[in-house]
Amino acid sequence: MTAENEWDGVALREISPEWAERVIFLPECGSTNDEARRLAIKGAPDLSVVLTGNQTAGRGRRGQRWECQPGEGLAFSMILRPQEPAALWSRFALASGLAVAEGLDSFGMSAGVKWPNDVWVAGKKICGVLVEADAEFVVVGVGLNVNVTEFPEGLDHPATSLALELGERCSREEVLVSCLRRLHLRLDQIGVGFGDLLDEWSTRCVLTGNDVRLDAGGALKTGRVEGVSSQGELMLRTQGGLEKVLQASEIRVL
Ligand code: BTN
Repeated sequence: MTAENEWDGVALREISPEWAERVIFLPECGSTNDEARRLAIKGAPDLSVVLTGNQTAGRGRRGQRWECQPGEGLAFSMILRPQEPAALWSRFALASGLAVAEGLDSFGMSAGVKWPNDVWVAGKKICGVLVEADAEFVVVGVGLNVNVTEFPEGLDHPATSLALELGERCSREEVLVSCLRRLHLRLDQIGVGFGDLLDEWSTRCVLTGNDVRLDAGGALKTGRVEGVSSQGELMLRTQGGLEKVLQASEIRVL
């Protein structure tokens, strides 16, 4: 990190000089996921983080946009070079949502996870995660509403921010550091330790026990969420029995 920007890196260096070295700050960029991918292709090491002060073309899941007032949100992407086989990489979705939810604990938030990787507070979305995999690496992109007070029109979900929930602005660097601490821990648990991760994830699941409607690859399904399977799939009790859902569009609570 460079000293001339608002992210002076002090908090990061206090926690880990090694992490601070791996954070690449871009005052403005289109999408941190795209920048991270570019750097990963050029050989950026495991756990490199691309952070921006102003993301102008942020991308969400299912081709949606991720928009945020300049300087008010946290937008960063972490490059991972996993040892685990690619078959397990979908678990990064659960790991990253849980890590961010845990990272918000120290700010007095009670954050839940909405399968697969959204973070919700008080019935509203506060953070979205976009996990994108290549053959050799994975990029975990995190968009977190820290001091955001206005949201784009037409969102398909209610939205909130730390500032709105707490009634005061927060240091984006402190939030980043808190989330990175948990990400380093949780992203390391997609192989050994996934059971522990799932136990913790389940305690924060905001969908369990709710009746929902979702689109699983073109198939509309309605049912009651019973939690997640040992492999991280959503367990949905439908009229036809218990189904394991691997991927789904926005899940609507009925
Ligand atoms: C979603 O909920 O749809 C996921 C949103 C992910 C947004 C983040 S912001 C940082 C990173 N860069 C992107 O372009 N997207 C992710």
